[in-house]
Amino acid sequence: MSKVKTTFFCQNCGTQHTKWLGQCHACKEWNTIVEEVVIKEEKSGWKPSNSGHKKASKPLKIKEIDSTKEVRLNTTDNELNRVLGGGLVPGSLTLLGGEPGIGKSTLMLQIALKLPFKTLYVSGEESQKQIKMRAERIDNTTDNCFVLTETNTQNIFKQIQEIEPEIVIIDSIQTLHTDYIETSAGSISQIRETTAELIKYAKETNVPVILIGHITKDGAIAGPKILEHMVDTVLQFEGDRNHVYRILRAHKNRFGSTAEIGIYEMLGSGLREVANPSEILILHREEELSGTAIASTLEGMRPLMIEIQALVSTAVYGTPQRSTTGYNAKRLNMILAVLEKRAGFRLGAKDVFLNITGGISVDDPAIDLAVVAAILSSNEDIAVGKDVCFAGEVGLSGEIRPVNRVEQRIQEAEKLGFSTIFVSKYNKIATKFPGIKIVLVSKIEEVAEQLFG
Ligand code: TYD
Ligand code: MG
Repeated sequence: MSKVKTTFFCQNCGTQHTKWLGQCHACKEWNTIVEEVVIKEEKSGWKPSNSGHKKASKPLKIKEIDSTKEVRLNTTDNELNRVLGGGLVPGSLTLLGGEPGIGKSTLMLQIALKLPFKTLYVSGEESQKQIKMRAERIDNTTDNCFVLTETNTQNIFKQIQEIEPEIVIIDSIQTLHTDYIETSAGSISQIRETTAELIKYAKETNVPVILIGHITKDGAIAGPKILEHMVDTVLQFEGDRNHVYRILRAHKNRFGSTAEIGIYEMLGSGLREVANPSEILILHREEELSGTAIASTLEGMRPLMIEIQALVSTAVYGTPQRSTTGYNAKRLNMILAVLEKRAGFRLGAKDVFLNITGGISVDDPAIDLAVVAAILSSNEDIAVGKDVCFAGEVGLSGEIRPVNRVEQRIQEAEKLGFSTIFVSKYNKIATKFPGIKIVLVSKIEEVAEQLFG
């Protein structure tokens, strides 16, 4: 009989230790080290029928390597394709993370139902009936999608050999377990082993595998950090559960850029791709209200117009309140300090609330200028014209700094029918934009002067 082997794993970061410790010396968390049984005598999760004669790879000169463009599987979802960098790469492992209830299963099932390829959707969380009910809501039924409710990887591989799918989706990695390890599903060693088996399968058969992963309360993908290192692509599905918009981002992408985002709207019938995000993020209203300003931001390569709302009012209590949604609170404090010190606006005793509509959060510094405009507009109670927008970063001395790819931002504003855009004087603009007036500003006083005279 083989000896039972145990090791100690930190449940927070996944580091392996030889003995129990109170504190993990890798991540410095206390009380996270747990003993787990590992059996590794006869190890192989994925056994293809014709294995055994695998050619060992040889070194090649870089010139000799075939550089013809790699094939990508079109997922028929434009947002997902863009985030992946053009589609799924054969043999790749993609991890989709997100908070519970954000719509990961919905997104994946929806894609599985639309795919023109034979797809296997493995669910360890829901019954086939539940998945069918969900599929009926989405109503996009094809004959290509197989649903399997199973959590044991050996059984999954058995079914895979029979069905021979072209894409495999696993919902979720935390529910899987392999026979070769004796810990409960969701433990560090199970996650690592089952992922390793799936990687082996994907690389040997060239079938792309998508894993769904849960997220812990502080935003990390539950399970070891190494899970993120093992896979090729890490996607994050985020958004506010109270809002209908969801954003898909790549945190890591071995085959493309991580700058792209995909935007979806959660409807009663599944997720809708939002092709033109600017239109939904700006409320179209008739009257002009004080305290709002439109910013031109870039998410990935896409220009995006967002609405900033500010409310400035006299503080009721001694300490004025500052609160933000979607914008960095420290940055708001900095902007208020700049407005006070450099432009003489008395905001120190005022409550300031700032909100980016649509529930999205933006860290592009180019929205600073719109933040300034919204705050001043609320403070003066004078509306900024509704066809005016802004793109500029605010520096500590109150200067308006240039932003990257300004022409692309101006072009988007022009396309959406804005009549005026405020940008930094230091931005070099070579192209002519006949449809939009470009106001060049270098200091925040000038902005206030131009807007409220
Ligand atoms: P789900 O995909 O189960 O989330 P996750 O897998 O990330 O935990 O999404 C569940 C939420 O989505 C749930 O609150 C219901 C909502 N929903 C819709 O609004 N419309 C739909 O068509 C579907 C299928 C779900
Ligand atoms: Mg789910």
